[in-house]
Order: sequence, then structure tokens, then C-alpha cells
Amino acid sequence: MSRLLLSGGIAAVAAITTGCGVLLPSPFGDDPITLPSQPTVINFVDPSTVDGLSVHTTSDDSGTPHIFVSYPTPASAPALAEKLREVTSTAVHRFAQPTPAPTYGRPPELNVGWQLTAASGGVFGVRMRTGTFTGSEWKNSLSTIWYDQNARRVHDSADLLKDGKALTTLSGMVQNRLWSLGEGMKVSAVKPDRTMFDSLNFNPHGDLVVEFDDGQVAPARMGRMAVAVPKQEATPLLSDFGREVMRAVDSATPGSIPAFPPPEFSAPPAPSPGDGTVDCATSRCVALTFDDGPGPETDRLLYTLAAYKARATFFTVGGSAEAQPALLRRMTAAGHLVADHSWSHRDLATLSARKISDELSRTQIAVGAATGRPSELLRAPYGDVSAQVMNAARVLKLPIVGWSVDTADARDPDPAAVTRRAIDGARPGSIILMHDAGPATATALPKVLEALAARGYAFVTVPELYGSRGMEPGQIYDKGTLAPATGRNRSSSRRTRTRHDGSTMPGAQTAP
Ligand code: NI
Repeated sequence: MSRLLLSGGIAAVAAITTGCGVLLPSPFGDDPITLPSQPTVINFVDPSTVDGLSVHTTSDDSGTPHIFVSYPTPASAPALAEKLREVTSTAVHRFAQPTPAPTYGRPPELNVGWQLTAASGGVFGVRMRTGTFTGSEWKNSLSTIWYDQNARRVHDSADLLKDGKALTTLSGMVQNRLWSLGEGMKVSAVKPDRTMFDSLNFNPHGDLVVEFDDGQVAPARMGRMAVAVPKQEATPLLSDFGREVMRAVDSATPGSIPAFPPPEFSAPPAPSPGDGTVDCATSRCVALTFDDGPGPETDRLLYTLAAYKARATFFTVGGSAEAQPALLRRMTAAGHLVADHSWSHRDLATLSARKISDELSRTQIAVGAATGRPSELLRAPYGDVSAQVMNAARVLKLPIVGWSVDTADARDPDPAAVTRRAIDGARPGSIILMHDAGPATATALPKVLEALAARGYAFVTVPELYGSRGMEPGQIYDKGTLAPATGRNRSSSRRTRTRHDGSTMPGAQTAP
């Protein structure tokens, strides 16, 4: 099933029609809107329909600067997955070296997300959105990477064009269309440069859609700028592969690419015998939490948790959850709790109320669609919570969960060190922060479970820590043994940071 979505990923979207130069009012951020008649609207593919597709993420909720990277890894296109790994690694390196300084007190942020623009007819298209926040403004750059499954070759967008001459012709066409929009357009900035034409796609009618980065051909405040070149004008400019892509998009039947090798998910582990009856008021309980999944390592984590009869809470990213609903169903079947970690892992404290609400509710819906039960808890990316985040969480009936033990597993490749932090930090009522994709997490987990079980701990979901006391929507919970770290005494206008490290919190770990 394909959907017709336009995702700006930015504060403003300017969609340009081919003839009259209409500027559309903008949706906010990544809001999907259906605009079937809009020529710059790209046809996106539902990733859950692609067999064997996994989502790789890199993030660190307790680290700075704030970095979140996500990209798809289709089983049938390993060369594409490798290319995306390279591209995203380069983006992280460019952003983090040298370490960017906070601006106006806000941590700098890098957020890389993706969408599939084709996944059929022997063609994959992955549109990567790289967003950066440097304290003054959020800027997105776009690039679409193509994969020819028959030739097993990765292509840049410019490879959709026949040759340099075609690129020059297309550049002229784009300039003419920008001229028609009047003052403010940076027409002279448009060059027949492959790096400038790095996000080429087709709309459902076969028109060629050229997308630009924020600020590249118009003032950055205008957000996404895109030009649609009608099919009859674009066709003579296309390479053989470009025509293949056009045909694939035209006759899109997403999900028709068979996975090779087949997905490795086998029978789900037997459900944990835990049934939520552990009384954490009288038993020693800890809540293991895993952020930023689901992803390639989630399968292994689920098996390990099942082997130790442990329940956990998975704070899932909505975009990844929607792409891999089977993994969410396995979590639920095994007695784990699937919770909300926002849709795109943006620092929610930097977003407007509307955007925050969108980030949370979309994830709730994705979790509900996969498991039959919408997410009931929120962990804010990076643990950053503002008054607006608390308000949105209250409206959506989401208690907010922090952590009391940071295993630093997202940045530490040493399983022994990760294990030690978890064991040393654990106290009755602890909420332990881990990440699905941490480099040492899957290796460390059996040792963590073994050591804590030997000390008499039961592994429960976060709400079980609070038992009959329950958890209140919009309130912040860092640990199970104290009252919520209520925001009522906090600033109502400034961001509140909920990050904690159990090892430095005096009195944080009192037994019930
Ligand atoms: Ni996270």
C-alpha cells in the first residue's frame, strides 16, 4: 500500500507548481499532508510493506551534542544499506568534529531521518533528511539515494540524468521556474552541479521533482523548495536507469521486492511467566528500559530477556515502530511494555506545542496499530522536557519517564563497563537506561540480568514499579520509589532537564 504524503521536515514548505508558481502555506515540521494535485508531492512507500526491512539507529539519550541517525537496511539491498551507513557516518562526523558549542544555552542537534520513495520494480529510493539545529535555526538538507537491484548498484540522484548536458538543461529549467516566483529566489545559485541536484524523485504522474536544501535557492525561512518538471520535458533528460525509476514509481506496488535473504525473525520467545503481579512495594524491582528501537538488535534482546524471564520497557521511535510492527507485537506478546519515544527523536524541548503533540500522537497511533494498545508512557528524547512537553503528555495521557541509572551503553563499546554501571547503579526502584542499538548492549544484557537476579531483583515494566499508586500523565518519573519529580515547581516557561545519573543523586535510591 502506498501513501501520498508530503513531508517538509521543516518549519515551512514552499511547493512550486510547474506553471504558475504558487507558494503553499506550510505544514509544520514533518507533518504529512495529502495533496494529490500538488506536482511537487512525492509518492512515499509504507516501509512495513517491504519484506526484511530493518531500521538502523544511532543515538545517545544521555550524551551531547544531541545526535540521532536513522536509516533503513533492506535485506535485499545490502549495498544500499552500506551506502546509507557511509552517508550518515559522514554527516555525524561533519557535525561532531569539532564538537559544536551550545548556542543560546541550547545543545546543538543533528537529526537524520528517511523515507522510501520507491521499493518496487527492482528499484529502491531512499530520501534522507539531515536536519541540524545550531541554536538559532533548524535547517534541513535532502538527498535521495537510488538502488538498482538488478545491477546491484547504488546511484546518486544525478545518475537519473543522461549526462552533463542533461544536467545543464535541467538546471536551466529550474532557473526559469524560480524566476517566475519573483524576488527573493536565489536563481543564480542554481548550478549544473551534481551535489545541488542530489534529491531527484518522481511524483505519481511521472513528473521529475527536484528538491533543494533549506536556504539553497530561497531564503531558509521558506523551508522546502521543490520544482516539478513535467514528464514530457523530463523524459528526454533521463538515463536508462532514470527511466527505470520513473516506470517503477509509475507502477508502484510497494513491497513487491522479495527479501533476500529472508527475514531472520523466527518464532517469538515464549511469553514471560511474569504477569505483572510482582509487588514492588515488598519486592526488589528494577525497570530495564531500551530506547531508540526497534532495530536490528531488538530480536537478540528479546531472546535474552525471555531466557531470564525478565520484562522490560521499550521506548520506541515512531518512524521505526511503524516500519517494523512485527517486532512491536513480539514485545507485547512477551510481556514487555511498548512506549513512546517520539516520532523522529527531535529534542522536544525545542519544538512548538503543535509539533510536540504531533510527535507523540503519531507514535501512539503507530504503536496502537501494531500492538492493539497505544503507548501509555513517554520518554522524551535526550530526557529533555519543557512545560509544553509536559502539557502535551498530560493531554495525551502519557506519564513521562526519565532514568536513575545511566549505563552509557549508547557510547561505550565495552560490555564489561556497561554491565558494571548497571549493576553498581541498581537499587530497588531503579529505572535503568539502555539502548536497543548500543554497541555493547546485547552482549552486556545477559550479565546484567544474571548479576541482578542473583541479588534478588525482579525485572518489571516501569508502571509496575509504581504499583497501585499509578502514574500521572504529564508528570515526570525518574525512579520507582519516590513521588513523581513533578514539574509544578519548575519553570513554566523554560526547558526542564530530567537527565539523571543514579551514581550522583544523593538519596535517590531509597528502598520502599
Ligand atoms: Ni533516544
